[in-house]
Amino acid sequence: PSAKVKAAIRRLVGEIMRRFENRGFKLVALKLVQASEDLLRKHYWDLRSKPFFRGLMSYMSEGPMVVMVWEGLDVIKTARNMLGENNPADSLPGTIRGDFCVEVGRNVIHGSDSVESAEKEISLWFGQNELHCWVHNSRPWIY
Ligand code: TYD
Repeated sequence: PSAKVKAAIRRLVGEIMRRFENRGFKLVALKLVQASEDLLRKHYWDLRSKPFFRGLMSYMSEGPMVVMVWEGLDVIKTARNMLGENNPADSLPGTIRGDFCVEVGRNVIHGSDSVESAEKEISLWFGQNELHCWVHNSRPWIY
């Protein structure tokens, strides 16, 4: 599983979700949230002493964001490739950051970087009853 968080104010929600669906991943959780400072602080706890921390918190609080969980084969690694590099200037065209942003401090989307951090982030952003387990009966290879 992989947790994603992103700014909805750029009107990129549909575009980004389309990319994950097209790639073949299965959506198992989704919501629009205005993140509290407390939640953001927990999410970015490891970065709390970085010089850009305050700016990051304020960017993430500017408006509601879409939080989602996508499931599928190698989803975390593949999603990192789809997102591009942390700094949009290093991201190739065709990646989400390479197509839609220029500033590292406003890089549109977050993706979990390991199964362990995905599990932690999913439990932070979602309750158990918000995660859906479903299969496409006749085509189990479609996640
Ligand atoms: P980080 O945890 O290093 O990256 P990722 O979320 O891709 O694993 O950084 C988290 C966020 O911090 C990053 O998406 C944007 C922000 N950030 C800045 O604003 N300035 C910076 O110099 C860096 C490195 C990150």
